[in-house]
Amino acid sequence: MCLLNASFAVFIILSVSVFASKDSQSGFAVGRNELTYRTEELSHEKFLAYAPLSDVPHLRKVTNNLLIPRVVGTTGHTQARDYITSNLRELNWSVEHDKFHDTAPILGKLHFHNIIAKLNPDAERYLVFACHYDSKYFEDFEFIGATDSAVPCAMLLNMAHVLQTALEPFRKTKLSLMFIFFDGEEAFKEWGPNDSIYGSRHLAKMWEADGTLNRLDILVLLDLIGSADPTFYSFFPNTEGWYSRLVSLEERLSDLNMLQRYISSGVSRQYPNRYFQPNTLRSSMVEDDHLPFLRRNVPILHLIPLPFPTVWHTKDDNNSIIDYIATENISLILRLFMMEYLQSATDEK
Ligand SMILES: *[C@@H]1O[C@H](CO)[C@@H](O)[C@H](O)[C@H]1NC(C)=O
Ligand SMILES: *[C@@H]1O[C@H](CO)[C@@H](O)[C@H](O)[C@H]1NC(C)=O
Ligand SMILES: *[C@@H]1O[C@H](CO)[C@@H](O)[C@H](O)[C@H]1NC(C)=O
Ligand SMILES: *[C@@H]1O[C@H](CO)[C@@H](O)[C@H](O)[C@H]1NC(C)=O
Ligand SMILES: [Zn+2]
Repeated sequence: MCLLNASFAVFIILSVSVFASKDSQSGFAVGRNELTYRTEELSHEKFLAYAPLSDVPHLRKVTNNLLIPRVVGTTGHTQARDYITSNLRELNWSVEHDKFHDTAPILGKLHFHNIIAKLNPDAERYLVFACHYDSKYFEDFEFIGATDSAVPCAMLLNMAHVLQTALEPFRKTKLSLMFIFFDGEEAFKEWGPNDSIYGSRHLAKMWEADGTLNRLDILVLLDLIGSADPTFYSFFPNTEGWYSRLVSLEERLSDLNMLQRYISSGVSRQYPNRYFQPNTLRSSMVEDDHLPFLRRNVPILHLIPLPFPTVWHTKDDNNSIIDYIATENISLILRLFMMEYLQSATDEK
């Protein structure tokens, strides 16, 4: 992704609105087809059933398998794609590849493959989680891209694994779950409209033509996650209600002492803040895979930390930067969000 203005910190807070995060968010409209959902908090029982589901060793294993250079067209790229695909197929997800080719600076004609995985291939609508699995090409070093975006992709594979049983009912529901692993997010030479987000540009255009776009409820895009202390913001007014669910889930978990703190894990520093900031940034400065979908009116939650991790696009974005405690904290919030979302929509039927 690309941050259009490096001095964003100076004027980043364009408008700040603090959510009444514990209020019920009943009846806000989301998505396409004028659907309104009654978003209900997970019951205490369900919350306590889902929250302890966790498998950090699995998260580490999956992450390690993706921590290889994955430049489009290389064997590492094929390996990452095969790994993601087989992982989800083993969990009985329906996985397809959207294959196409395009011409990139430096490397020329390249074959791209977006990976599209569905829990219920026959669903009418989808809650979509996405990341990009390609890594950036650099002329002078091998870039690993731990936060960019091996960890976000590993988080999705880990969610499917951890929630396997909990998600079972949603194999048959009209609203189900889709994961997209975009290809070719990174620019090969210089970020620009023709040299970046190759995969998402292709997929959004194709799905606009065949009507699939209307079946996407919301696209939750994860990027640059994996390092310590990330902070997220709400960027888009039409998904503010859903964003505020993330804020309240973090509070609810924190109140119940279900999020890990450094202090209890023996690390001598304390995270002073929260991940999901209760602030709105009306910013269009971060370009990423959501753009082709945003421009076609798909509701977006863009979960990318601001500021970016300090290791962004350097050789230091490798295994040694990953903070598994923070990553698991965030994964847990997202897993509960996923269950809450699927339940809210299904209850409404
Ligand atoms: C996948 O589906 C097959 C056939 O329905 C079933 O035998 C198998 O147990 C399922 N595997 C998982 C991991 O759900
Ligand atoms: C991108 O490609 C289009 C179509 O080939 C071209 O018209 C346009 O000028 C290009 N834009 C940039 C910034 O290179
Ligand atoms: C996990 O999240 C909670 C709530 O935001 C926070 O208090 C805690 O410090 C976090 N732990 C780490 C390791 O980031
Ligand atoms: C990985 O990152 C660390 C610092 O974050 C750096 O010291 C190390 O050189 C990097 N490893 C490689 C192989 O580039
Ligand atoms: Zn990048």
